[in-house]
Amino acid sequence: MTDQPELFTWEFATDPYPAYAWLREHAPVHRTRLPSGVEAWLVTRYADAKQALADQRLSKNPAHHDEPAHAKGKTGIPGERKAELMTHLLNIDPPDHTRLRRLVSKAFTPRRVAEFAPRVQQLTDQLIDGFVEKGEADLIHEFAFPLPIYAICDLLGVPPEDQDDFRDWAGMMIRHGGGPRGGVARSVKKMRGYLAELIHRKREDPGDDLISGLIRASDHGEHLTENEAAAMAFILLFAGFETTVNLIGNGVYALLRHPEQRERLQASLAAGESALLETGVEELLRYDGPVELATWRFATESLVIGGQEIATGDPVLVVLAAADRDPERFTDPDALDLSRRDNQHLGYGHGIHYCLGAPLARLEGQTAIATLLRRMPDLRLAGDPADLRWRGGLIMRGLRSLPVEFTPGR
Ligand code: HEM
Repeated sequence: MTDQPELFTWEFATDPYPAYAWLREHAPVHRTRLPSGVEAWLVTRYADAKQALADQRLSKNPAHHDEPAHAKGKTGIPGERKAELMTHLLNIDPPDHTRLRRLVSKAFTPRRVAEFAPRVQQLTDQLIDGFVEKGEADLIHEFAFPLPIYAICDLLGVPPEDQDDFRDWAGMMIRHGGGPRGGVARSVKKMRGYLAELIHRKREDPGDDLISGLIRASDHGEHLTENEAAAMAFILLFAGFETTVNLIGNGVYALLRHPEQRERLQASLAAGESALLETGVEELLRYDGPVELATWRFATESLVIGGQEIATGDPVLVVLAAADRDPERFTDPDALDLSRRDNQHLGYGHGIHYCLGAPLARLEGQTAIATLLRRMPDLRLAGDPADLRWRGGLIMRGLRSLPVEFTPGR
C-alpha cells in the first residue's frame, strides 16, 4: 500500500492491518478525524504505544478533553455525560485510581479466579450442550456472547434468575455500542438500578461472591462507597464482557483459518498438555485481539510521542492492534504462531490500567477454545469468510456472527 489508506471504512473494519502497517511506517503518530467528528492522535508503533500507555501526562479523565463547547457530550467519549457509574477505573487517574484499584484487587484476586475454573468449565459445557446435536451453530450468539456474561454475573453474585436480564442489557449495549444511544442509555439505567439494589441486599446479607467481597474490602480503614462499588461492578461487567466475546470469536476464527496451527493445538490437547493452549491464547490476543484501540487518553500538558508534539487537551488513542503487529518488536508479526514465546503483546494494555480481568479472560478463553476443539473436533466455518461481518465499533474488534458446522455429537 503506497497511498495513505482510508480509515474507518467497511474494508478497514474487515481487515485494518494493511492500513496499520502503512501508518506505522509513514505516520506512526497520526492525527485523524474519527467517525464521531472528534480529532484524535493514533499511536501505532509498539515502542510508542507502550510508552504512551504508561505516560502519566496522558490522563484517563475525559474532563481533560479540550473540545469545542458545541461538541460536548456528542463525541461518544464515555464518561463525558456525568453519570455515577462512569467514575470507574478506566476514567480516573491517581490518586483516586490507586485507591480504587487497591481495594478491588483485594476482592478480585487470582485465587478467586482460580477457584472459579470448574464453574467456567460447567458453563462452557452447558452452552455447547445447547447446540452440539444440531451440527451447526452461530458461535457468537450461541456461545461466545452468553459465556462471559453468565460467568461475570455468577462471579459477582447476580442470582441465576436475574442473569437473563443482564444478557438482554448487554445484548443491547453490544448491538448498539457505537450507534443509537437511547436503548443503550435505558439499558445502562436499568443495570445501574439493579446493581444499586443488589449491593444494598449484599450489604445486609453478604455471601462469598465478588460484590460482597467489594463491599467488605478495606484498605487502611477505607472502604468503597455504595456508588463506587456499583461503578466497580459495572466496569467489571462492561470491560469483561465484549472483550471476552471477541477473544473467543476472533480466536476461533483465526484457528479455523490456520488449519495446521489448529491441528497442532488439537494434538497437544489430546496428549493432555496445556503449554500450547496457554501460549496459543496469548498469541490469538496478539494476532487479532479484542481491543483494537486502548480506551481514551487526554494530554494534560504538551508532550512528544514518537517525535510528534501533542498539544494539551488533545485525545490520544493507542492502537493496540497495530502495535502488536509491529515488525520492530515481533518476528514475522503477520504470522499466527501458537507456540510464540517472546510475546509481550499489549492486548491487555500496559502500566497502571493493565487489564484487571486478565486472569479471568485467560481462564475463559482457554476453557472455551479447548472445550470447543475437544467436543467438536471437526469444527469448520460454514459459508464463505468473505461474507462475515465485523462490528464497526471504534475500541473493539469482533465478528457479528460466526457460523460453523461440525459432525453432530453429544
Ligand atoms: C482494562 C483488555 C477482559 C476488566 C483493560 C485494558 C485493556 C483490556 C487493553 C486497558 C485499557 C486502557 O489502558 O485504556 C482486555 C481483554 C480482555 C479483557 C483483551 C479479554 C480477552 C477483562 C475481564 C475483566 C476486565 C474479563 C473483568 C471481569 C478490566 C478492568 C480494566 C481493564 C476493570 C480497567 C483497569 C484499570 O483501569 O485499572 N482490559 N480485557 N477485562 N479490564 Fe480488561
